[in-house]
Amino acid sequence: MIGKNKSIVTLVGAGPGSSDLITIRGLKALENADIVLYDALVGKDILSYIDKSVPKIYVGKRSGKHSYSQNDINKLLVDAAFEYGHVVRLKGGDPFVFGRASEEIGYVESFGIPVSVIPGVTSAIAVPSSQGIPMTSRGVSSSFWVMTATKKDGSFSEDLKFAAKSSTTMVVLMGLSKLLEITDEVGRYRGAMTPIAVIQNGTLPDENCEVTTLKRASELLGRLKPGMPGVIIIGDVVAEHPSFFEEEVQRVLYSNF
Ligand SMILES: C[S@@+](CC[C@H](N)C(=O)[O-])C[C@H]1O[C@@H](n2cnc3c(N)ncnc32)[C@H](O)[C@@H]1O
Repeated sequence: MIGKNKSIVTLVGAGPGSSDLITIRGLKALENADIVLYDALVGKDILSYIDKSVPKIYVGKRSGKHSYSQNDINKLLVDAAFEYGHVVRLKGGDPFVFGRASEEIGYVESFGIPVSVIPGVTSAIAVPSSQGIPMTSRGVSSSFWVMTATKKDGSFSEDLKFAAKSSTTMVVLMGLSKLLEITDEVGRYRGAMTPIAVIQNGTLPDENCEVTTLKRASELLGRLKPGMPGVIIIGDVVAEHPSFFEEEVQRVLYSNF
């Protein structure tokens, strides 16, 4: 402890987007923060919960703003804890879902600074859920698999193939730029009529939800909003989305003329 306050770091999950989907415990941590380091949060409104006098540093990698490397962020966390006291590290969704939380915790703790984690509502489940798409459904899907399409080195993940070979509900994060490669790969193991949904900016007012089948996945490209993060859901549970059958019926009718 060098500054006037005890040096501690709290990793807080901000939830999937809408500012009222942060947990009460996360909110309390924000109210007690001496400084906040935040990512490219999907829902920026959450920042309004933080007192105006509290410094807020954007360390995200989106929006073409100055981007910090993971090493820069680790160092900044330690410097901020020594200088200010209580650092809240605000991360989208849950900190432990593709959030590099373990790296930050390891680095900060190596300086003897205690770290605690406040879980968040992950977009992987909450975004489909808020659209009425269940992860599991009795008699339809008894498991779900959350994955990213590419590995650390940028190569295509084998996990996608393993999941596609099973009957699990597939939830792919950070996959929009490879949407057609993903659907082609999954289409090798699942039927052409397998339902798929892409939900962008889930839980926010400008949310965009598109549902179709693997066969028609290429049509999704023109319907997606550039620059918005999205979750891809593949599996029969997507048919439970309120507009899935309506859209299919319209396509069948339309294709007859
Ligand atoms: C680096 S990962 C972080 C995930 C986060 N830790 C979580 O638990 O939601 C970022 C990806 O999460 C997904 N994502 C996060 N928020 C989203 C939202 N509101 N709508 C759609 N996708 C979202 C997108 O696939 C995005 O590329």
